[in-house]
Amino acid sequence: MRKKIVAGNWKMNGTQEEGQKLTSEIVNMVKDEPVNDVTIVLNPPFVHASNVKKLIGDASNIFLGGQNCSDKASGAFTGEVSAPILASFGASYVILGHSERREYFKESNELLTEKVKQALENGLTPIFCCGEPLEIREAGTHEAYVKDQLTESLFGLSEADFEKIVIAYEPIWAIGTGKTATSEQAQDMHAAIRAHIASKYGQELADKISILYGGSCKPSNAQEIFSKPDVDGGLIGGASLKSRDFVDIIKSF
Ligand code: G3H
Repeated sequence: MRKKIVAGNWKMNGTQEEGQKLTSEIVNMVKDEPVNDVTIVLNPPFVHASNVKKLIGDASNIFLGGQNCSDKASGAFTGEVSAPILASFGASYVILGHSERREYFKESNELLTEKVKQALENGLTPIFCCGEPLEIREAGTHEAYVKDQLTESLFGLSEADFEKIVIAYEPIWAIGTGKTATSEQAQDMHAAIRAHIASKYGQELADKISILYGGSCKPSNAQEIFSKPDVDGGLIGGASLKSRDFVDIIKSF
């Protein structure tokens, strides 16, 4: 059985007060309402880490994550946050290679290899994002595009390390647009990703990797998307900022 994961990516949203309110509401709802066996990850902006970790408290199914980390362990890199720093604040996960990082901060597949290594060396589970822009989808070359992202960033990892990775497939044209991929489009790509992993690491390992869908996921479509055999959860942006919506998505399993 693969791990089911719903991760909230707050992106650059939430004052201190808003972040505390959101976290408390999610923690309380998850405590009070029946939630299936789902791993929940909250990925706030870095400065919220300490507050969020404290508010998660002893909830055994909710974890803290970062939205990014440096490719370096420490040093004179003003404004950066390293994997060791994140881990020291109690983070367990880190989102890497989000399309916004790739586009606005020019993160390459090669740089992401180094970030993944940093995360793994410091005990953080990378949530590695991949996904194609609209023009690639329209050209029909989306599977090759996503496979290349995985090959270039991840296929140098040992089996033992690859096994620790979580993949998030996020078609860029579906992020924040309200335009969700159909559940069939998500399933097709997730199956292609799993087959690609199997071609390198074998079917047994590929079957253990959780592959999340991201892109305009909301309570009204989560159940349909999560019902697909190769979809193991979601990476949620906008809807993770509303406690009721986020918990309803978690409950869609
Ligand atoms: O990391 C989350 C994704 O970018 C999805 O964002 O749910 O707002 O479309 P969204």
